[in-house]
Amino acid sequence: MRKLIIANWKMHYGPVKAGAWIRAFRRERLPKEIDIGVAVPHTSLAAARSSLGRAGVPLLGAQNSFWEKEGPYTGETSPTMLAEFGVEFCLVGHSERRTHLGETDEMVAKKAVALQKAGIQPVICVGESEEAHKNGEAEKVIKAQMKAALAQGVKATGSAPLVVAYEPIWAIGTRKPCSPQNAREMHEVIREVIAKKFSKKVAQDVRILYGGSIDERTVAEYLSTTGIDGVLIGGASLDPRVFGLLCRSAAPA
Ligand code: PGA
Repeated sequence: MRKLIIANWKMHYGPVKAGAWIRAFRRERLPKEIDIGVAVPHTSLAAARSSLGRAGVPLLGAQNSFWEKEGPYTGETSPTMLAEFGVEFCLVGHSERRTHLGETDEMVAKKAVALQKAGIQPVICVGESEEAHKNGEAEKVIKAQMKAALAQGVKATGSAPLVVAYEPIWAIGTRKPCSPQNAREMHEVIREVIAKKFSKKVAQDVRILYGGSIDERTVAEYLSTTGIDGVLIGGASLDPRVFGLLCRSAAPA
């Protein structure tokens, strides 16, 4: 399975800086054996697409989407609108959206289904709080989030196959990543839920990423851990040269 590295800029970089980032990143020497994507704010999609050209590296992603195609949903953006920019993947249910915008498991599931209908790959984010982690409830929380995320008809495979990102909230932006071993165990929990819903074979084919305080020094260790099929990178993706270095560090020697 090809590994996948996704940059998540979060709420950084309007059109001007987004275009500059893409141009700088494309000057980096990048490994061909790894898929690389960048999730940009909606307002920067046009600039990013124009700097990228029609296709190529990095894959263009969004950070959120609504579930309806159009209608009285002020401020929202539909998957079909994202598709007009040639958006190839979209994050869904990032913990920052669950925390600050009240996004629920049900909304996450509906968004993922709608994205697939528009031909966009959903990257469903799950992760437990620090409290749940400390109380030994991580597995329970992740199982529940995953079951709910798969409950509305999202497909695991196909032309816009499901990707899952395990991002423990306590590890995001804290410089305290979850250990590769711990991440591996949680990825197994996620894969079990997918296997129960679909099949073991299907579960083996779904890419499960780890996200939370990964940088260019630690990425290789995570990607060489069984069951970790990629990484989601926040802070270390903001500088295109650092992110380029991170992608090179990830490639097998
Ligand atoms: P971080 O963020 O790499 O800055 O910890 C990861 C994320 O939230 O996707």
